[in-house]
Amino acid sequence: MIEKLFRSKSLETLKAQAEEPEHQLRRNLGTFDLTMFGIGAIIGAGIFSSIGTAAAGHLADGRLPAGPALVVSILLVAVGCGFTALAYAELASMIPVSGSAYTYAYATLGELMAWIIGWDLLLEYAVSNVAVAISWGDYARSFLANVLGVHVPGWLAMDPRTALQLLPASPPMGLGAKLHLLAQARAGLADGGAVFANWQVLRDAPLVAGFPVTVNLLAVVVTVGVTYLVYLGIRESARANAVMVVLKVLILAAVVAIGARFINPGNWHPFAPHGFGGIQAGAAIIFFAFIGFDAVSTTAEECRDPGHSLPRGILLSLGICTLIYAAVALVVTGMLKYTDLAGKADPLAYIFSQNHMNGVAGVISLGAVIATTAALLVYQVGQPRIFMAMSRDGLLGPWFGRVSPRHRTPSNATLLTGLLVAIPAALLSIDEVVELCNIGTLFAFSVVCAAVMILRKRRPEAVRRFRMPWIWVFAPAGILACLWIAKGLPAVTWIRFFAWLGLGLVIYFAYGLRNSALHTRTEEA
Ligand code: ALA
Repeated sequence: MIEKLFRSKSLETLKAQAEEPEHQLRRNLGTFDLTMFGIGAIIGAGIFSSIGTAAAGHLADGRLPAGPALVVSILLVAVGCGFTALAYAELASMIPVSGSAYTYAYATLGELMAWIIGWDLLLEYAVSNVAVAISWGDYARSFLANVLGVHVPGWLAMDPRTALQLLPASPPMGLGAKLHLLAQARAGLADGGAVFANWQVLRDAPLVAGFPVTVNLLAVVVTVGVTYLVYLGIRESARANAVMVVLKVLILAAVVAIGARFINPGNWHPFAPHGFGGIQAGAAIIFFAFIGFDAVSTTAEECRDPGHSLPRGILLSLGICTLIYAAVALVVTGMLKYTDLAGKADPLAYIFSQNHMNGVAGVISLGAVIATTAALLVYQVGQPRIFMAMSRDGLLGPWFGRVSPRHRTPSNATLLTGLLVAIPAALLSIDEVVELCNIGTLFAFSVVCAAVMILRKRRPEAVRRFRMPWIWVFAPAGILACLWIAKGLPAVTWIRFFAWLGLGLVIYFAYGLRNSALHTRTEEA
């Protein structure tokens, strides 16, 4: 039994399987496509939405603000991610098989760990896309209202939890008490606006058994659209992605270029209002904005020359985004006192509207809509490929690995991912989703840093088109960096994460252990 849990796949088997005709995908991506793909994944809801919370914190939840020192949080996270990016680059150049961290774990730490990572990556890809879809909905709604004059009813653009949020000054209360108060307020017996943060939404929402029915329809619409694009094929997706990436980089460049003229250096004092604790808390949130450079590795089987392009695509996209983020953080905290960013869902547009530039704010909202569409696209491409790799290994049923003969894309897994993102996006709040995604991703990153060291020991002779420099310093530093960032997350996130892993283990012991292709092969032999 123990032996089964730690059985691992050889590099040769991994490569041979990817070359089986029924599993072959179209190979037409180069370094430029991959870099664009990486930027598409990295720049998304994080820089457009979470940057405000990272700078201003949320003292009611015990989350310290980073203040203007957010730029330090950004640089520290970038260095930590840089270590992991080097590990991904070496592994991706050595094992050019889609499946990313899941595949690397299978080659090194054995099947159980591979399953855990595959399950954990659902948090990174599908759950982060839930957050991205929600943020898309927020910016799209404000763009439609402020620029086009089209007003989407609030109850069709918000999850029930956010809708039922109380104002910071209201005393905490349970769901039953909230619903009771809501009924009273709707009957005109209480002042809903004095208690509920989103009273207008609650006032108009239809009620079912006293519960307000609110659903984030915009988030669902964008998820369905992007899933359809991904279903049609990777080539079309890469093209659409490249156009959106150029646009969003231009928009962030405009934020920096225009915003720089309105910086008041006085806003940068005090620079680190809560010292290192604030910098760490800021890092734990802004980490979300960095996730994505690793998604490049999931397209390994669609690259013309993976050994050459993958490391370049991963490192270039991370480096470019770091420079952009650092500049944006300096401008944002320079234009406005960091405390003014508290609770703002659209901070980049807000800093301009506060400086009486509503036109610029409108363009930024549009930019955010475009940016988050591109990020959605990349994760909707990545997740099905991980399902496909797991199905190939027998840890998930063959249904998950079916490649459509017409489009040469993993069709069932793509449609399933669409559902897995669209349904929670309609109903969950962005904060809970972002933190869960961060902890899951940090765990996967640590395993990748461990995997690169294990393979250097076990397979020193294997061909590596890219070698991580200073591996015995950088790889452990990568693990420590992940731990440091994760330590900044609240306890409830850790609990949810372990619950998620527990559920994954149940599924593995109920299905994967018995159906693993490695197991079947051993039985046949
Ligand atoms: N880095 C991605 C984003 O910011 C997840 O949306």
